[in-house]
Amino acid sequence: MGEEMPLSRIAAAVGTPVYVYSQAALVERAAAYVQAAQQTAARCLVCFAVKANGNPALLRLLGEQGLGADLTSGGELFLAQFAGIPPHRLLFSGVGKTSAEIQQALQAGIRALHVESWAEMERIAGIAQTLQMAAPVAVRLNPDVAADTHPAIHTGGRQHKFGVNAQAARQMLLAAADHPWLSPVGLAAHIGSQIRELAPFRQATAALLRLAADLEAVGCRLQYLDVGGGLGLDSISQAAPRPAEWVAAVGEPVAQAGYELVLEPGRSLVGDAGILLTRVEYVKEEGGKWFVVVDAGMNDFLRPALYGGEHPIWPVALRSGRQRESRADHTWRVEVVGPVCESGDTLARDYELPPVAAGDLLAVMQAGAYGYAMSSNYNGRLRPPEVLISGAAYQIIRQRQTMTHLLG
Ligand code: LLP
Repeated sequence: MGEEMPLSRIAAAVGTPVYVYSQAALVERAAAYVQAAQQTAARCLVCFAVKANGNPALLRLLGEQGLGADLTSGGELFLAQFAGIPPHRLLFSGVGKTSAEIQQALQAGIRALHVESWAEMERIAGIAQTLQMAAPVAVRLNPDVAADTHPAIHTGGRQHKFGVNAQAARQMLLAAADHPWLSPVGLAAHIGSQIRELAPFRQATAALLRLAADLEAVGCRLQYLDVGGGLGLDSISQAAPRPAEWVAAVGEPVAQAGYELVLEPGRSLVGDAGILLTRVEYVKEEGGKWFVVVDAGMNDFLRPALYGGEHPIWPVALRSGRQRESRADHTWRVEVVGPVCESGDTLARDYELPPVAAGDLLAVMQAGAYGYAMSSNYNGRLRPPEVLISGAAYQIIRQRQTMTHLLG
């Protein structure tokens, strides 16, 4: 990760499991995104999807690189404000914004609310009128594109709960243009996550552009087109395009049509800037399988259990060669499992590792996005700490919970 801090030192000082992020990797990825967007479009805004990682220290770093934030709750709005990200760089997406959240967003003066239904738009209009503040709105288009990813994180299909169809989006934006308390500023799409091909993104962008042109023809000129996030990371079985390729693929047509380009990357920005560091507790053989039992469970890192997410696992600082003796005759393919009382609590299946033993450290890779963010107290387990490494120094940016957190 371009840092010089031995992970074993962090494990010794902070304990395991622990999320560890590299400041250099984060800053480099953020700067690369901003640069790619600026090279593609004269006007652009890269909004980090806070749901991927809401740690305030990381949000502050990203904000300092010029990024905005894509928000999905009042809590994320609070975090972005706390991290000093200016309101004109904040967007609020999501199908279920409450009245309190809409009011919070309008009073904060964010760039736009991304509206996902007629009912939501009516509610926003009512709140805007009560507050006597015009509400900037963009509509989220559901572009109905297929994408090769896990069904739970595909969001751009016609029958998904997200956004509205092209006809409704058109009518909503025209209605907003005529409304005294609404101001139509953009059109957005987000088709899913961990997508490793460009074709569906190109299709979604084309759908945005068709609709924007259609609206322009009747005198409704929008400020920006937001192509969402969703670019994947390389998986064990399939490589993903680099962020610059993705930005060019979706951004060039938007820039050519003269719109401001907005992007909402989450995973591709922070995913591989972080790891989950875990320690082997036990090694056991049962039913013809070897199990490496580690101290990180599905409550700490849910992706493998929930989506079958494949995350490479790298041994860190193996302790001497002593552990090799007993298993020299085995192909060392293992199940890496956590302590939670479910068989689904498996970090990796049939995974090839060098012989490891109790006490060894393992790094679960690509854990910077949707890692800590999806952790829980399931099984009475404490949520893990987060550490940020910068060169030869590290900083605890979230403490491990203590038993009192379990009391409510
Ligand atoms: N914009 C919107 C409106 C979103 O809903 C999301 C993610 C993003 C941007 C960022 O997408 P990304 O670039 O990170 O793919 N928990 C799942 C991922 C859920 C993504 C939800 N929406 C996982 O661990 O794979």
